[in-house]
Amino acid sequence: MLNPRLEQLADYPFTRLAALLNGLEPGGEPLIMSIGEPQHAAPALLADALNASAHLWGKYPPVQGTPDFRASAGNWLKRRYGLPAQALDADKMILPVAGTREALYLAAQMCVPDSKRGHVPAVLIPNPFYQVYFGAAVLSGAEPVMVDAPQGVPDFSRVPPSILERTALAYLCSPANPQGSVANLKQLETAIATARQHGFVLAVDECYAEIWDMAPPPGALQAAWDLSKSFDNVLVFHSLSKRSSVPGLRSGFVAGDAKLIEAFSRLRSYGGATLALPVLSASTALWNDEAHVTENQRLYRAKLDLAERHLGRHPGFARPEGGFFIWLDVGDGEAAAKKLWQKTGIRVLPGAYLSRPSANGRNPGAPFVRIALVHDLPTTDRALAAIAATLLEAP
Ligand SMILES: Cc1ncc(COP(=O)(O)O)c(C=O)c1O
Repeated sequence: MLNPRLEQLADYPFTRLAALLNGLEPGGEPLIMSIGEPQHAAPALLADALNASAHLWGKYPPVQGTPDFRASAGNWLKRRYGLPAQALDADKMILPVAGTREALYLAAQMCVPDSKRGHVPAVLIPNPFYQVYFGAAVLSGAEPVMVDAPQGVPDFSRVPPSILERTALAYLCSPANPQGSVANLKQLETAIATARQHGFVLAVDECYAEIWDMAPPPGALQAAWDLSKSFDNVLVFHSLSKRSSVPGLRSGFVAGDAKLIEAFSRLRSYGGATLALPVLSASTALWNDEAHVTENQRLYRAKLDLAERHLGRHPGFARPEGGFFIWLDVGDGEAAAKKLWQKTGIRVLPGAYLSRPSANGRNPGAPFVRIALVHDLPTTDRALAAIAATLLEAP
């Protein structure tokens, strides 16, 4: 009765965490630091923009969004990545999506054929990774191929040629969830060149692009333009969830190769949720505004400072280049998650739930926990002090 491919999917990480902690008493007031759900206040201009377009709730929105939305997203891409005006035709190269999650999922539906060069198509996935990539690969009928990158950026050019020739799609995340690593321009160019050489689509998840520490992470469109003055084979995924702290708005966009955007638009006409016109209008205002983003970045940086102050002495600590997760090597992530829950009431996610055993049978995420710095500064300060006291104390 059900699609048997569903059985290949493990329970989602938060369900697995609930099972791990089931029946264990929290050692303090529970605090969720396992989920990357931004808790900063939504920008004031969101409510104003939604109110101003309230008369539009009664209309079905077009799949392609509005010209204003596409222009604001396109102008942001040009500003953010230094792309020249002629590089990007917003009407042909940008499509709004109801958050990047569904778009990343649909990318596999769009790209994976029944077979490639006579073989089962492969989808390359960095390991550890955002779980949607795996579900998307499996449910599209592809074989997910894990490319280990426990603390850095996966190098797809080193994947065996026999796999590359049957690869239909590769996911790359920068800044990466959970590792916090950022792909530099050279690494992005290598990934793009590999995709072009082997005829697959490179889907670059840049939803944390605006949450960075020392320097703005480069983007795949920037790398593609530098490489060849074209976006062939490349799609980037952007979201307001993190940039503007509005995960509930469900607003993002996909941009890049015009042929792929056209196909994506066709696919979404059948299976994608369109963004309501007031949501598009509010999103336009948010992509046009930088002041609220600067404030958001200031808060995340202050929390990274707190993390470094409390956890800097921990041998497994590394300050992330981007994103808002601390990816801490604690030796045994499940044991540490249990201990933190029982001693402090703080919920963190074992890294094993964000990765899969790779070809050598080892799960590269198993030694880690992921701690989401999504709460306000005082809460984060208290929580990090408690985490440090628990993890740095003698066993
Ligand atoms: C790496 C990554 N990609 C995509 C998403 C989806 O975000 P949204 O659908 O809110 O844009 C998330 C959300 O946590 C994420 O961590």
